[in-house]
Amino acid sequence: MKTYKIALLPGDGIGRDVTEAAMAVLEKAAARNGFSLATTSYPWSCDYYLAHGSMMPGDGIETLRPFDAILLGAVGWPRKVPDSVSLHGLLLPIRKAFVQYANIRPHRLLPGVQGPLRSENFDILCIRENTEGEYSGAGGRVHQGTDSEVAVETSIFTRKGVERILRFGFEQARVRRGKLASVTKSNAQKYSMVFWDEITHRLSAEYPDVEVTSYHIDAMAARMVMAPESLDVVVASNLFGDILTDLGAAIQGGLGFAASANINPDRSAPSMFEPVHGSAPDIAHLGIANPIAAIWSGAMMLEHLGETAAAGEVMAAIEATTARGIGAIPGKDKTDAITASVLSALD
Ligand code: IPM
Ligand code: MN
Repeated sequence: MKTYKIALLPGDGIGRDVTEAAMAVLEKAAARNGFSLATTSYPWSCDYYLAHGSMMPGDGIETLRPFDAILLGAVGWPRKVPDSVSLHGLLLPIRKAFVQYANIRPHRLLPGVQGPLRSENFDILCIRENTEGEYSGAGGRVHQGTDSEVAVETSIFTRKGVERILRFGFEQARVRRGKLASVTKSNAQKYSMVFWDEITHRLSAEYPDVEVTSYHIDAMAARMVMAPESLDVVVASNLFGDILTDLGAAIQGGLGFAASANINPDRSAPSMFEPVHGSAPDIAHLGIANPIAAIWSGAMMLEHLGETAAAGEVMAAIEATTARGIGAIPGKDKTDAITASVLSALD
């Protein structure tokens, strides 16, 4: 029987609640489809930090490297550890070290889910650059605490980094509805964003079957609200993609429905799958977190592993569940009830 090695990082807060739900569903889907998941769970989190002084051990990255995929719940508990420490100690280094340069986030309404918009027929795939740009971490502070204090944080855009994320976007558009929206702010940022636009234009010659349009980020934010059905694949830099995908989560009914995949397209290291929502400390371990985003992220993991049939079954089970009104209304159903419904819909 084919076995996939999965590293499970429940992380903090509701990350633990929703990954437990997701694993139950994924294991059942695996059993039904003749493969198995050999899962190893690591307790790396803010609690781990308080006990050990780091978010993961010094060899954490090397520990994860041999796995076929990583499923992550959420990282962060700002009252225990500042977010700037916890995120730079676990989530962000994994994305960079494993060259997970494409962060994929689907935004569409699941059946039975009421979004805040009049438009209900949108199906957007946001592709966020995930390793450089505004998240490069290049910068510093001097004269701290004095009147002369200076903080510098430089965005870094490389030809390699921009080209590969745009190519990824073109390829996705090609197998979807053939439309690519490339998002920048090149009217104001005349170096990096003009560079991005130029590469978009140059690559478009290689993808004559893809209709590409460049938008400024502010106009794209408005378009996602006013005319989301006009969009197919949306590709953006790290920070722009971060912001647009919270907007995407909002128009799909809330963060409880927003799935994501941090993909290493070259498969030179494991990819990582995680719901977009954070650790939500206020509702942690109350049994009320919506596991749909985590289960959907798990379906994306199965897809990435090549288990297309199982991934399809999990998506169908999610859709059958929300179509029956279960898990469809934020705050209404308990984590266990939603998970049980998805599990039974698998049969
Ligand atoms: C996300 C999150 C992270 C990000 C944070 C927690 C660092 O907001 O995955 O969208 O900005 O990438
Ligand atoms: Mn975000």
